[in-house]
Amino acid sequence: MNDLSGKVAVVTGASSGIGAATAAELARLGAAVVVHARRKERLEAVVAKIGGQGGKAIAVAGDAAYVDDNERLIAQTLAFSRGAGNAGRIDVVVVNAGRGLAGGVMSSDPAEWLALYELNVLGAADLMRRAGELMVKQGSGDIVVLGSVSGHHISPFSGFYGSTKWALASLAEAMRREVCAHGVRVTTVKPAVVMSEFQENAGYTKENFFKGIEKFGKVLDPDDVARVIGFIVSQPPHVHVNEVVVRPTGQDYP
Ligand SMILES: NC(=O)c1ccc[n+]([C@@H]2O[C@H](COP(=O)([O-])OP(=O)(O)OC[C@H]3O[C@@H](n4cnc5c(N)ncnc54)[C@H](OP(=O)(O)O)[C@@H]3O)[C@@H](O)[C@H]2O)c1
Repeated sequence: MNDLSGKVAVVTGASSGIGAATAAELARLGAAVVVHARRKERLEAVVAKIGGQGGKAIAVAGDAAYVDDNERLIAQTLAFSRGAGNAGRIDVVVVNAGRGLAGGVMSSDPAEWLALYELNVLGAADLMRRAGELMVKQGSGDIVVLGSVSGHHISPFSGFYGSTKWALASLAEAMRREVCAHGVRVTTVKPAVVMSEFQENAGYTKENFFKGIEKFGKVLDPDDVARVIGFIVSQPPHVHVNEVVVRPTGQDYP
């Protein structure tokens, strides 16, 4: 594996869970990291933790569903990259900010549908496009998007949330075909159950979720997914791991 020294990475949704773990992992591998989410104090704690481990990071607070905030994130990352002597390059963008929604098409709350698409699909696609424009000019770069096993197998239990992740994986693969000739890799990582703040924010309860996963045994920690993302972006430039499904060993479905 190549190390990431001298590279600049952006991780959205980095104030908790998979994003916070991924920011720490990319910093451990040598990247200077820009962490993004809405909760500024939580981001500052992630930056302090990375700094304490000898890494380099800054926080940019913003809402990943708002295109203006995405524009500001890219502008501040470019300034950070120039300041760090990286000539305004952005090498890795992990499009991770997202949330779940308990229930299927019939049982989820339709009042949440628009906001879910604005964050999980439209905000994500906007950032992918901005990153893609820069990386095509650079002639290299990694865009890693967080899909889900619910966007890999159709599940009646989280049908509406799953549809956002199907859309995102489809956008990522379409974009990969647009940009791969320019040395840019677009990868979808599809985790299964990862214990984080995700479950509470999605409205998962014992009845609609936790009872069903007991049989899986130990589920994933955010660090388990972070290591996979570190592996993907550390491959030599001619190697692209296009898509990864990461499950707890005992999870049969989805
Ligand atoms: N956990 C799982 O089982 C699982 C499985 C498959 C896929 N995923 C996907 O993995 C990604 C990360 O999930 P996680 O498990 O780490 O969940 P998490 O612990 O709830 O983290 C979600 C992150 O997204 C940020 N976020 C949420 N809404 C945002 C917004 N409007 N603008 C900016 N940031 C926002 C949150 O920060 P703020 O609240 O500070 O903004 C937080 O940092 C999501 O895309 C999720 O769909 C999770």
